[in-house]
Formats: sequence, C-alpha cells, structure tokens
Amino acid sequence: MICVRRARPGDAAAIGAVHVATWRNVYAGVLPEEYLAGLSPMRHAVGYERAIADRRHGHAMFVAVASGADAPPGRPGGEGGTIVGFVSGGRGRRPGLCGEAPAGSGEVETLYLLDDYRDRGLGRRLMRAMAAHLAAVGCRSVVLWVLRDNPTRWFYQRLGGRAAARETIQFAGRQVEQTAFLWDPIDVLLTATATAPER
Ligand SMILES: CC(C)(COP(=O)(O)OP(=O)(O)OC[C@H]1O[C@@H](n2cnc3c(N)ncnc32)[C@H](O)[C@@H]1OP(=O)(O)O)[C@@H](O)C(=O)NCCC(=O)NCCS
Repeated sequence: MICVRRARPGDAAAIGAVHVATWRNVYAGVLPEEYLAGLSPMRHAVGYERAIADRRHGHAMFVAVASGADAPPGRPGGEGGTIVGFVSGGRGRRPGLCGEAPAGSGEVETLYLLDDYRDRGLGRRLMRAMAAHLAAVGCRSVVLWVLRDNPTRWFYQRLGGRAAARETIQFAGRQVEQTAFLWDPIDVLLTATATAPER
C-alpha cells in the first residue's frame, strides 16, 4: 500500500535521502558532477526538518509512504512504512505570473519520487494533495519552476500546466535556464489530478 499524508518532523531524514537519490539521477549531466557527489542527505534533512515545521505563508509538505508489499525490498520501513516521495509548497514567494499579489498565487517548490515509484500515479497524487492544500489556503493559481533540461517537465504539461515564463539562474556554479509552469486558475490542476488512481 502507498499512502500520501502530511509530513511529520520525524520524516526529515528519509526526505533528505530521497532528495539526494533523485537529484543524483535526474540532474546527472545537467548539474556539475562534483555538486551532485557532494550532496549530503544529513544536511538536506536539517533543511527539511525546518520546512516541515514551517507553517508560515501556507507552507506544507506531503509524503508518499510505501508499506507492506509496496515497500522497497529489504526496507519494510517498520510500522510507519518507507518514504518514497514528497512534495512541498506554499503561497507564492514572489509576485504571481498573472500579476496578482504573491499570496494569491501558490507555488509547488519540490516534487520528487524514487525511481522505482515513478509511473504509478504517485506524482499525480502528491500534486493533488498540494493543489487541494493550496486551494484551501486561498491560492487562485499555482506555479512550479523546473529546470529546462529536466526530462520530466512533460509531466507538468500532462497535468495541464502551461509554460508561462523562463529565466536564467546561477545554480551550483552554472547558468541554468528554468521554466515556470502555470495552472491558472488552480481548478485546472485540481481537475487534472481529481482522479489520482494508484497503478
Ligand atoms: C516527475 C514525477 C514527480 C512524476 O511522477 P510519476 O508518479 O512518475 O507520474 P504519474 O505516474 O503520476 O503520471 C501522471 C501522468 O503524467 C504522465 N507522465 C509522467 N511522466 C512523464 C514523462 N516523463 N513524459 C510524459 N508524460 C509523463 C503519465 O503518463 C501520466 O499520465 P496519464 O495518467 O494520463 O497516462 C516523477 O517522475 C519524479 O519524481 N521524477 C524525478 C524527480 C523530478 O524530476 N522531479 C521534478 C522536479 S521539478
């Protein structure tokens, strides 16, 4: 069984481990090798511990937890299961792409799933949890920034996101281009994720 639930303080270490494993995979060849090799699950766990506790600006994190026959081999994860993915977000951190105040626009900040748990409908379920939360805290649209070379950006198009802006940022010592996907109104995302079956 795989369930999606709100993240708890004790989840930070597992979230840090998922972050590092997915970044090394997805961003190989996109970000510098030394940067990826130097990623530390423990350091990220500290950041995620703060993120889980942070309830300002409508911030929230949700995790996908696998247990029983769905748990990773050799890691049944005990009674609580094993964290295999997560999503985080909150009210926008900068003025919305539609010109509204930041608070009117929600932002999905992270979304990562371990390799073996992709293509089973979990990304959609995590996006659903975040979209429902953002709608509940008053967001009327949702934005998500993704690196241009991220191979999974098509996923967001599949969920009805529209490429609405582009910018170049300095990251890990490299100039990288990122694209903003926009769901405006937020109902576009709520509808696209309404049926989020487990495959
Ligand atoms: C991107 C990610 C979250 C998608 O989650 P997922 O569980 O694999 O996707 P789902 O199974 O929920 O798929 C939802 C829909 O998107 C489609 N889809 C998923 N990945 C796709 C891709 N790479 N290209 C095209 N369509 C894709 C699926 O076919 C499905 O559509 P359908 O149900 O209408 O057939 C996941 O693959 C992941 O974590 N990737 C690595 C980390 C990453 O890059 N995160 C994004 C950083 S911004």
